[in-house]
Amino acid sequence: MARIQINGGVALEGDVWISGAKNAVLPILVASLLGDGPSRVSNVPHLQDVTTTMELLGRMGAKLSVGDHMRIEIDPRSLEHFEAPYDLVKTMRASILVLGPLVARYGRAQVSLPGGCAIGSRPVDLHLHGLQALGARVEVRNGNIEARAGRLRGARIIMDTVTVTGTENLLMAATLARGTTIIENAAQEPEVVDLADFLTSMGAQISGAGTNTITIEGVENLRGTDYSVLPDRIETGTYLVAGAMTGGRVRCTRTRPSHLDAVLNKLDETGAEISTGDDWIELDMKGRRPRSVDITTAPFPGFPTDMQAQFTALNSIAEGAGVITETIFENRFMHVQELQRLGADISVKGKTAIVRGVPKLNGAPIMATDLRASASLVLAGLVAEGVTTVDRVYHLDRGYEIMEEKLSALGARIKRIGAAAG
Ligand code: UD1
Repeated sequence: MARIQINGGVALEGDVWISGAKNAVLPILVASLLGDGPSRVSNVPHLQDVTTTMELLGRMGAKLSVGDHMRIEIDPRSLEHFEAPYDLVKTMRASILVLGPLVARYGRAQVSLPGGCAIGSRPVDLHLHGLQALGARVEVRNGNIEARAGRLRGARIIMDTVTVTGTENLLMAATLARGTTIIENAAQEPEVVDLADFLTSMGAQISGAGTNTITIEGVENLRGTDYSVLPDRIETGTYLVAGAMTGGRVRCTRTRPSHLDAVLNKLDETGAEISTGDDWIELDMKGRRPRSVDITTAPFPGFPTDMQAQFTALNSIAEGAGVITETIFENRFMHVQELQRLGADISVKGKTAIVRGVPKLNGAPIMATDLRASASLVLAGLVAEGVTTVDRVYHLDRGYEIMEEKLSALGARIKRIGAAAG
């Protein structure tokens, strides 16, 4: 199995280009099923989750082709199976996103019920309640969600909790419903807005995406479209934290600074100098050790849970102590035990981790447990003295495009060893 080996201690220096956003491309590829003709999606990152999504769409009968620079064409006209099977859903929970489009466009869907996962129970009840409110008949039987509907009808839906993929599922379903749908307490993440922009370019009528109330006027049909996916704010944040932890200077290009306000505020508090342009962000730590910061995760525009593990790693070598509070997922401190193996001083109580910065970490073999946790372990390896080996890097490959190549280009001594990840 592939591992990543890092020889820590180099201050990162240079430019890194940012890939298309994983959490935007997945719903967008799936939303192409709503169209009457083919859609072409560009700036698609080369990630395991994208491969899984393509396999899912392909198994349903969609015709897919990959052009230059990962431009993917999806032709849904040959769709004949309306099912997301367990072997795919269990590797990628975002498979649940096919539910809304399938029910809205084809009147039926069967999606294996996602089980528990490393970072908590992650229910999908709000997806199902929302679809029922739109008129779908939904049953959970033998580990499968089965949904059927004639034409969906618009409704006012108040989400109990802010859910990103839940909002996206209902947004997609409502585009073809008869009448008006209002989603209240909607997720405001930039990836929701990117999906809404994609749907609008297909002919959907959507207003309010990016606020907590989204209004959708259903239309009779949607057409295929051409669309370029927005840059990945979590990948951006991860490389900026890498720059801060190593005392280096990192400039992220082809990114969207306005999507990272909460993260940049925290990086500013660490003592980093930050400058931004239209599509770039530069962080300069000037060889200094970062100061610890307190973090509380929250839905956008709050501090993203997907950056929590990276800041836990940063605090572990920072000056002073920082309190990390995770409010979105119940079990998202799996990286802590691995960071402790490198010498980090962290104590976890419930949703809170207290991190007391130590002057140095020491390299050791460690194991990735989930996607963002694995990124935090790589970051820790970049500053640890000696060799760190991160096992189970398939977690990393789900969400980071050629991470070791990008870090090498910034000067890190990092390489992949063992067989290529599947
Ligand atoms: C998405 C992101 C993930 C990110 C997360 C939070 C994708 C593909 N994944 O995951 O990277 O970490 O948002 O920003 O976009 N909940 C319910 N019932 C539901 C749905 C969710 O109680 O039906 C709860 C969850 O348990 C969690 C909270 O809502 O506590 C937020 O989860 P949600 O926003 O749904 O996460 P995902 O969409 O799965």
